[in-house]
Amino acid sequence: MAASRLPFPLTLTGDGILLREWRSEDLDDLVRMLDEPEIARWTPMPSPFDVEAGIAYLKRCYQNRVTGQRIQLAITADGGRPLGEVLLFGVDLGLKEAELGYLVDVRERRRGLASGALSLLSAYAQSSLHLSRLLLRIDPRNVSSTAVARRCGYRLTGEPPILQEGPHGSSRLDTWELVEHQSGRRSDRLKNVAARRYGRRT
Ligand SMILES: CC(C)(COP(=O)(O)OP(=O)(O)OC[C@H]1O[C@@H](n2cnc3c(N)ncnc32)[C@H](O)[C@@H]1OP(=O)(O)O)[C@@H](O)C(=O)NCCC(=O)NCCS
Repeated sequence: MAASRLPFPLTLTGDGILLREWRSEDLDDLVRMLDEPEIARWTPMPSPFDVEAGIAYLKRCYQNRVTGQRIQLAITADGGRPLGEVLLFGVDLGLKEAELGYLVDVRERRRGLASGALSLLSAYAQSSLHLSRLLLRIDPRNVSSTAVARRCGYRLTGEPPILQEGPHGSSRLDTWELVEHQSGRRSDRLKNVAARRYGRRT
């Protein structure tokens, strides 16, 4: 990786998912996806999330991408309609650490998209960006997000919670760290994704 810039543009594929750069044509899908109560509850997105917020979001995203500040990719099946978003930000090259985040369209949840996207970006961060400490910050009441973290090999670090005040009151964000090497989990993940497609668990 260049000393301080994250790669742009970037496409990552695997496990039936394609992560791609956001495009201006995604505006309508982005607004429909982000204007949703769970996203308002658990992420710092403005609420209501209207067209104006969407335009500002895509503009900021593009600036962060061209300046190499963060990785912010649309989750898609085949490069088409965005189904969610996965991010890597707060990169500290000295500590080799970064934080990741994710969200999925309410109509596309419980299909393994967040876990698939997080696994792909985590594997890329480890193997191509050589980041060894990958972190998630999650409110323990957000059961779907903690399930995603656990499924992808992240574990609670035991660090003191980060206290935050927001429109929904106070929250305490726990820190999770990736502890299982991605390549070691690949066969398990593929097995589970296949099981989900066929409606049963392994
Ligand atoms: C959190 C979120 C991204 C999960 O997306 P998703 O694509 O539905 O997640 P997955 O399908 O990959 O699910 C992964 C695991 O979480 C579990 N899970 C998902 N939603 C769940 C829910 N509402 N309750 C309990 N478990 C849930 C799945 O069953 C799966 O567990 P498994 O390993 O036992 O099968 C989605 O609910 C969302 O966008 N929430 C709002 C934004 C948000 O909270 N972002 C994270 C901020 S920290």
